[in-house]
Amino acid sequence: MSIHADNHTDSRPAWARFLADEEATRVLGADLAKCLRPGLVIFLDGDLGAGKTTLARALLQALGYQGKVKSPTYTLVEIYVVSNLYLYHFDFYRFNDPEEWQEAGFREYFNDASICLVEWPEKAGGLLPPADIQIALRIAGQGRQAEITTGTEKGRLCLSGWADSAGNQEGGASAPS
Ligand SMILES: Nc1ncnc2c1ncn2[C@@H]1O[C@H](COP(=O)(O)OP(=O)(O)O)[C@@H](O)[C@H]1O
Ligand SMILES: [Mg+2]
Repeated sequence: MSIHADNHTDSRPAWARFLADEEATRVLGADLAKCLRPGLVIFLDGDLGAGKTTLARALLQALGYQGKVKSPTYTLVEIYVVSNLYLYHFDFYRFNDPEEWQEAGFREYFNDASICLVEWPEKAGGLLPPADIQIALRIAGQGRQAEITTGTEKGRLCLSGWADSAGNQEGGASAPS
């Protein structure tokens, strides 16, 4: 598989790996927790059951969150303050009303001081800001194929140096194009 998309410089996966089991997904979440910084928007892509919530949960727990990490499927967003970070975990699977976006004040959640993790970003249409980092999880046999793409300079900076230390499979985050 080639990792070089030809149409858009930002869609080149910085990192790809097969995650054989849930534990591997959790390790990825814990690795990602190390490079988080305020202002990041992270999209979690993948079908139902691909492991988006599992990844978000592992990330929060690695940051030190001790409570239950619920899927935001019904609430649309779960809010965490942990390790001096404001972290908003969205799941837009059931989102269908842009008015709700206004009323709930979701736009304000996406700011320089917060980290937003978004499941089903495509369901929010054009309302979301672009992702700094996009994590795609695909069911592959008994496991999952994970691909991480950076969409902005902020995302690239965040992952630079990280991909190698996290066991990159197909070239580093800062590999020349
Ligand atoms: N790498 C993996 N290989 C196999 N099963 C996994 C892996 N990662 C997570 N799982 C399992 O897949 C399911 C993912 O559920 P969930 O995280 O709620 O998915 P999503 O939020 O994408 O709908 C869980 O049952 C979890 O145990
Ligand atoms: Mg989920």
